[in-house]
Amino acid sequence: MHEASMTAAKRRRLLQAATSALTKAYAPYSGIRVGAAVLTAEGRIFSGANLENASYGLTLCAERVAVAHAAATLGGGNLRLVAVAVASHHPGPFPPCGACRQVLAEFGPQALILYPGEEGLEERRLSDLLPEGFHLRPR
Ligand code: THU
Repeated sequence: MHEASMTAAKRRRLLQAATSALTKAYAPYSGIRVGAAVLTAEGRIFSGANLENASYGLTLCAERVAVAHAAATLGGGNLRLVAVAVASHHPGPFPPCGACRQVLAEFGPQALILYPGEEGLEERRLSDLLPEGFHLRPR
């Protein structure tokens, strides 16, 4: 499935999954809960939420937790992302951070990214958010 063919219903479900994941956030340090959901090529949705740590730099963003959730279930080699949604109750914007863009690009360089912008929902291709991501040729 290509992201252009994502139905309105699937889009709603993806945004809903990202919002539902907010309840799973562990954010005692920043107080900022972030939820994310990824839509795979087979139409499955996996969600995740941010996971903070007392050693702040070890914090995992919601997007990367959602990717790990999908990879732990499907196997990383089977993971193809067509869309990703991000949600937070905190005032936006909440585009994926640079580290998350790089991780998302591994599994869906053309994925559609839905995130809270300055004025409502933004929708961008990952290739526009990360035009020169690092990549290696698989051996
Ligand atoms: N955070 C995410 O979950 N995703 C992002 O793309 C950026 C930031 C989280 C990490 C931290 O728990 C909180 O937001 C504040 O930075």
